[in-house]
Amino acid sequence: MNIASTVTVDPTLDVVAEINRLRKEKNAVILAHYYQAAEIQDIADFVGDSLDLSRKAAETDADTIIFCGVRFMAEVAKILSPSKTVVLPDLEAGCSLEDSCPPDEFAAFVAAHPDHLVLSYINCSAAVKAHTDIIVTSSNAEYIVNQLPADQKIIFAPDKHLGGFLNKKLGRNMLLWQGTCIVHELFSEKELIKLKAKHPNAPVAAHPECPDAILRHSDHVGSTRSILDYVRDSDAETLIIATEPGIIHQMEKDAPHKTFIGAPGADGNCSCNTCPYMALNTMDKLYLCLRDSSPEIALDEETRIKAEKPLRKMLEMSPNAAPAKDLTRLSA
Ligand code: 13P
Ligand code: SF4
Repeated sequence: MNIASTVTVDPTLDVVAEINRLRKEKNAVILAHYYQAAEIQDIADFVGDSLDLSRKAAETDADTIIFCGVRFMAEVAKILSPSKTVVLPDLEAGCSLEDSCPPDEFAAFVAAHPDHLVLSYINCSAAVKAHTDIIVTSSNAEYIVNQLPADQKIIFAPDKHLGGFLNKKLGRNMLLWQGTCIVHELFSEKELIKLKAKHPNAPVAAHPECPDAILRHSDHVGSTRSILDYVRDSDAETLIIATEPGIIHQMEKDAPHKTFIGAPGADGNCSCNTCPYMALNTMDKLYLCLRDSSPEIALDEETRIKAEKPLRKMLEMSPNAAPAKDLTRLSA
């Protein structure tokens, strides 16, 4: 996939100093996902998983939210904080799970199953959220599904691997939309088995967007934040990480003495598993979007109102615990 886009910034400009100046001047908060480049994570006011970032976006008193993540995440910020200006460094930063679930097809699917409750993973468009009863993230999905009656018929979209993982773990039979994440699909079971044989004491921590063939070799399965907590608290000195390698930056900060090995793709290394959408955001684009308050997320109000309901439901049904203290890192 070639979705690269470049911008030009005066090479003599101190981009970090300019970002720091502009964020104060504009009362802007910079939110970043763990899959962003290390320097973006380091300059952000808060770094988190999808649930933590939605909570931050809903609570912030900043005038502008600079969302360093992908478009569906920035849309969530706009849905929950409609009076704020929400900008994304690169509007092309999409998500293959979002692409795998066209809103019209999804609406028809939902209409064909009127007796089903509709659960959607937060990795989908605002238009798909508008056809959903409850949104979930990888950190609250299990908790939310467990609150639903055992005989409740459920549609789960768009990630078939997260849905399959939940069905297996919770003994459910949710009807799964057949979407996938192009990044997590690339891990190779064969190569993982070889890697485990080389490092027999290294636990495997995996994101539930991975196929079952990877999850069944994993010691921990959870959201990016839960993977970070697991890795930090583990007694192991070496761990194998089956998710996007951007997260390893926080692991190295949390536990500098430990060794983190990215789970391999079919070629035996993990370089193929960088999310091409997350990688579109750069420090230069972060500076420019802060300077210009653009590109801005804009949603039609009818869709926004419909999409807000299942998101608010998610926040109500999520575990109340505040994000662990190491999750939100105030930049220096
Ligand atoms: P988390 O909610 O675990 O951060 O996941 C977001 C994501 O896009 C994973 O690919
Ligand atoms: Fe979407 Fe996968 Fe990238 Fe996450 S890693 S943003 S699910 S394409």
